[in-house]
Amino acid sequence: MDLSDRVAIVTGSGRGIGAAIALKLAEVGATVVINDVGDMGPAEAVAEEIRKMGRQSLVIPADISDSSEVARMVETVTSNYGKIDILINNAGITRDQLIMRMSDDDWDSVLGVNLKSVFLCTRAVLRPMMKQHWGRIVSIASIVGLIGNAGQANYASAKAGIIGFTRTVAKEAASRGITANAVAPGFIDTPMTQHLPEERRQAMADQILLGYLGTPRDVAEAVAFLASEEARYITGQVLTVDGGISLGKM
Ligand SMILES: NC(=O)c1ccc[n+]([C@@H]2O[C@H](COP(=O)([O-])OP(=O)(O)OC[C@H]3O[C@@H](n4cnc5c(N)ncnc54)[C@H](O)[C@@H]3O)[C@@H](O)[C@H]2O)c1
Repeated sequence: MDLSDRVAIVTGSGRGIGAAIALKLAEVGATVVINDVGDMGPAEAVAEEIRKMGRQSLVIPADISDSSEVARMVETVTSNYGKIDILINNAGITRDQLIMRMSDDDWDSVLGVNLKSVFLCTRAVLRPMMKQHWGRIVSIASIVGLIGNAGQANYASAKAGIIGFTRTVAKEAASRGITANAVAPGFIDTPMTQHLPEERRQAMADQILLGYLGTPRDVAEAVAFLASEEARYITGQVLTVDGGISLGKM
């Protein structure tokens, strides 16, 4: 796998799965744009690690659920590097609540950051990708988008939406050498799952065929493959990276 000369944006890559994806893409040669919101210290640290590998990296703070911030981010990338080859839609949040207690704001914020952002970022990169007749769009969905999860109606809907959106991008952009795929992780050990009570994490691990939570690196390996030239004949697909949890133990 060789991504030398490729320019990638990874949204929400200051920590967790996004940071692991950014580091993996840089490891195989890519120039990587680190995007995040809030405290940019961790994002700067990821960029520094990439520069230490001898690759280029740029940190762009932007709320990817905001159309004008996304447009500014993509303009900054094209004016710095002249192109965008790879978009990894990774940023996501959770606001868990049973449907009867879920507020409008819990719904809107999760749909905004997890799904609208995927539309906004994809729309913004499609023109430069179409011009160069090459592009890779990989969006991080979740097994929750495939099987549902009590307490996560907002999150499950956003992640299922990513899958329908990805298949549509695949159809609209295939003739220009652009592929769009989704990766659906199971339970991965990141700040998103670390705040869960230990007994809930143990209950999750008990359901996983391989017996343990995945690492961000496990997801990053699958993403890097889908972003590579080697995956050129794969589009509109959902690759589950879940230690077998979606198969069930029986
Ligand atoms: N951890 C898991 O078990 C798991 C499982 C399935 C899917 N996922 C998905 O993987 C992706 C990454 O999850 P993670 O576990 O690394 O989460 P995380 O909370 O550790 O990291 C998410 C990152 O996104 C950033 N972010 C949040 N809102 C943003 C916004 N509006 N604009 C830009 N950046 C924003 C956060 O600041 C953070 O750096 C998410 O889409 C998540 O839904 C995670």
